[in-house]
Amino acid sequence: EKQGFKHFMLKEIHEQPGVVRANLEAYFRNDVNPGESPINLGLPTELYNDLEQIHILACGTSWHAALIGKYLIEQLAGISTQVHYASEYRYAPPPLTANTLIIGVTQSGETADTLAALAMEKERRQGKEPKYQARLLGITNRPESSLGHMVPHIISTLAGIEIGVAATKTFVAQLMAFYALALDLADRRQTVAPEKIAEIINSLRQIPKEIEATLESQERLTEQLAHEFAETQDFIFLGRGINFPIALEGALKLKEISYIHAEGYPAGEMKHGPIALLDAKVPVVAIAVPGTVYEKVISNAQEAKARDSRLIGVTPVNDGEAAEIFNDLLPVSHVDELLSPILAVVPLQLLAYHIAARRGLDVDQPRNLAKSVTVE
Ligand code: M6R
Repeated sequence: EKQGFKHFMLKEIHEQPGVVRANLEAYFRNDVNPGESPINLGLPTELYNDLEQIHILACGTSWHAALIGKYLIEQLAGISTQVHYASEYRYAPPPLTANTLIIGVTQSGETADTLAALAMEKERRQGKEPKYQARLLGITNRPESSLGHMVPHIISTLAGIEIGVAATKTFVAQLMAFYALALDLADRRQTVAPEKIAEIINSLRQIPKEIEATLESQERLTEQLAHEFAETQDFIFLGRGINFPIALEGALKLKEISYIHAEGYPAGEMKHGPIALLDAKVPVVAIAVPGTVYEKVISNAQEAKARDSRLIGVTPVNDGEAAEIFNDLLPVSHVDELLSPILAVVPLQLLAYHIAARRGLDVDQPRNLAKSVTVE
């Protein structure tokens, strides 16, 4: 059932183009008539009406997807959005706000903290005046799960069952759900012109083949790098803007399956402390893609290089400037900055996988971890 792959995780990484295709088909309409929405989430207007605020509750990799969701919702639909660790939210919820959408993100639909935070939110809104009523939405890969029974509306992420403990294809599917949700909100609130929405959807349609190209070009590169980094003890991942959560995700993947200490940072924060960690023994992986913060990330990466760190760049192919700065390149195609996280995460998944595999570790069942964390 591993279909020739050594581990489920590698198989699941390679399934990502197909997962994105399935989500594209489900979430977006092909030939729309004028005035018809190209987004097909099937969510009722009551969920969206007069929306003033969004809170997203999640854990782990789902929390990283939620951070990207926040970026997309705020930038495209202009709705103030906060992302919370479910385990923190439960015991210190923010003051009740009106016309607020609460989104629980959990691929398994069984994460105890996420379910408990949603239950708490539902309960504290019970009996309140209409504007305070709970508007709950779940994003999950298992609509039949406990989450599915708890919330009235679901976006189903269609990744198929994921066996590897490290979330890969379900993360990419969650990102697709957030693209659809942010675009749906933008469309309904008319914060983005219909032509621009159509353009973003068209670019999303190119993503599966871009992931395929990335997988093809990166397998060997990441395997070679894994060979060199199998004994490394610490890694730093840097990103900014929409790719800061990808730095967090790259570090989490490496930690959980290779047991190497890794930290993800917003690149601009380096100089406020973490830069003291850097030397020739600590490689730095920087996600540097053209867009609002490109030059900034490059200059942050240069600061790391000046401390003798070996610099690995996740950056577009044929970028002359980047090629000179980085010691090693994990090239990705140049796409719209808004879509870049979905490509940038792929080489980081592969890097983590190959390092863990080279260290001879149980990639699919890492120590101390379970696929769904059903205890607090
Ligand atoms: O099923 P969930 O999405 O709620 O799981 C949340 C986390 O436990 C999960 O993402 C965990 O961090 C993964 N092992 C990450 O690869």
